[in-house]
Amino acid sequence: MKTLVIATTNPGKVKEISRLLAGLSLNILSLADFPAIPQVEETGSTFTENAIIKARHAAKYTGEMSLADDSGLEVDALDGKPGIQSSRFAGPGATDAQRNKLLLSLLKDTPDEKRTARFHCVVAIASPSGETQIFDGVCEGLITREPRGAHGFGYDPVFFVPEYGKTMAELPPEVKNEISHRAKAVKASLCFGSFFGAEADSR
Ligand code: IMP
Repeated sequence: MKTLVIATTNPGKVKEISRLLAGLSLNILSLADFPAIPQVEETGSTFTENAIIKARHAAKYTGEMSLADDSGLEVDALDGKPGIQSSRFAGPGATDAQRNKLLLSLLKDTPDEKRTARFHCVVAIASPSGETQIFDGVCEGLITREPRGAHGFGYDPVFFVPEYGKTMAELPPEVKNEISHRAKAVKASLCFGSFFGAEADSR
């Protein structure tokens, strides 16, 4: 069975991505299985550049095919911000609640029809020799006026999904895992299973 390293130590992300890859016969590991690997700096200026940096770094140090994702929230009324700064928006050490509060305050005078936004995810899969494939996923929505819901993480409580009439944080995790930007990008990568040497599971 081929091995695929998910280039993150975030257990939530590993779980979410592993579930999406369950149809392929793969031995899935994560960076938590390789504690000696040095941390990589995300020096790219786009999601794509950062995903490639992380996937190549993990593939080089583990000697295994590696998958990395980079994602964030793009708000149209803020010219695409916070974008690649999504996790650092509101400064280092800020909490999700503080980032959401800042976002809502920046949009306090923005009318409903202009509160369009999307979660965007780029997945990169790299081989130890540096060959790389990239896959994109987006999930469109609107920024609410107040946080709602307790599931998920990050900007989920302020991200309204019109098709469901709920914020991402009000949707059960199984639903989020079907419709999210990450789900779409990882699912797009499934048809390239042969790239990372996985056999499609016959189940
Ligand atoms: P990263 O791809 O793990 O670096 O995520 C970047 C940041 O984007 C996260 O820290 C969150 O603030 C935000 N983000 C990415 N994906 C999601 C999501 O599914 N829900 C809510 N926020 C997200």
